[in-house]
Amino acid sequence: MNVHDSEKMSGILKAEGYAEAANTEDADLIIFNTCSIRQKAEQKFRSELGRIKLLKSKNPLLKIAVAGCIAQQRGRDILKRNPHVDYVFGPQNIHKLSAMLTTNAMVCIEDNPEIQHTDLPAERKENLKAWISIMYGCNNFCSYCIVPYTRGRERSRPSQNIYEEIHELADKGFKEVTLLGQNVNSYNSDTNFPGLLRKIEAIKGVERIRFVTSHPRDLSDELISCIKELPKICEHIHLPLQSGSGRILKLMNRGYTYEDYIEKVRKLKESIPSIAITTDIITGFPSETDNDHSITIKALRSIEFDGIFAFKFSSRQGTKAAEMDGEGGRMAEKITSQRLSEILGLQDDITLRKNEALKGTLQEVLVEGASKTDKGKITGRTRTNKIVNFEGNESVIGRLVNVEIRMAMRHSLEGRLTSQSQ
Ligand code: 5AD
Ligand code: SF4
Repeated sequence: MNVHDSEKMSGILKAEGYAEAANTEDADLIIFNTCSIRQKAEQKFRSELGRIKLLKSKNPLLKIAVAGCIAQQRGRDILKRNPHVDYVFGPQNIHKLSAMLTTNAMVCIEDNPEIQHTDLPAERKENLKAWISIMYGCNNFCSYCIVPYTRGRERSRPSQNIYEEIHELADKGFKEVTLLGQNVNSYNSDTNFPGLLRKIEAIKGVERIRFVTSHPRDLSDELISCIKELPKICEHIHLPLQSGSGRILKLMNRGYTYEDYIEKVRKLKESIPSIAITTDIITGFPSETDNDHSITIKALRSIEFDGIFAFKFSSRQGTKAAEMDGEGGRMAEKITSQRLSEILGLQDDITLRKNEALKGTLQEVLVEGASKTDKGKITGRTRTNKIVNFEGNESVIGRLVNVEIRMAMRHSLEGRLTSQSQ
């Protein structure tokens, strides 16, 4: 989401006549697009902001802006404490960037209940795969999460507007689109999410459609049928579970039980046997007991995700969970670290096992370019979003090819090019 917001900022600046500087020392404008989902991201930003201070004395023309969710939450405070910062603006005010720069307004962090940045000209670095915002904000208020406070209420972009952006991308040669929203399953404008998918499916030139993130509570049977029926929708779903423990899910205000979740997974696997399911897990949520943790471990063993992102709970000021944390629910750092490594260790084995099961199969791969990790090879992704490296001519870059999987590692597969699909 943030990377795509940065693409929008680049697009606005390019239209204003800016060009990307070769390095920070040469820049006349530096924008920090910040994330406040966890403390670690905030710390990184703060140390970078300190480091950049020196540049300002070397280049008096340099302007520094802080954007993103930290700006939204602490914009005025950042300005007060950091005289070298010129502008702060939040994720709901990206469309005001050029006006800010010309009028020298310093703060743009008001809530924006309208969608005014649907037509921002995103400047994409790639020419094969693109992110497209379909909605903004979130209404879910999961108790640990800062997003509803920084990105505001849920707003869905009109489907025609999305259609036109994707159409243009297809005309430029893009092959894969990833639809972005905090909770895409509750997309609701002139049509619902399955309706939007059907509309995009019809765009010529688009070969693959992906979407993130799906909220388990809102994953409907209609959407499952859509994934099954529409050939361009890839067989991969990111479905954040967060915890296996019903008690913790309730405290997290997730709106589903573990049993509800399992039922959705069952339906997904039944309808689309080849589907890859990935998830997010938070460990060390306030008051999480050894028992809650072992229920999560059991859940990971039983569901066998294709991959997970696991995080230590990070207390975010202003959220309900931060209060629980303050009320003595805080977990000892040592315990949280142990739980996290147990989760990651277990998942590593599962991921490897799942990848090994693909040996000998034929996979459709969209070829992206030269492999960064495997010199001399080219690389791409399966429909299930797994990385495949293989020997091949650069002429197949940007195309769909069939690859026979020969070897499986934790983070990638290796294969042999068989025949080209087109
Ligand atoms: N602490 C830890 N992880 C968090 N996430 C969101 N908020 C927090 C937090 N306060 C995780 C969730 C979410 C992913 C994007 O980030 O797992 O799905
Ligand atoms: Fe945060 Fe929950 Fe909304 Fe996701 S669904 S952005 S975790 S509040």
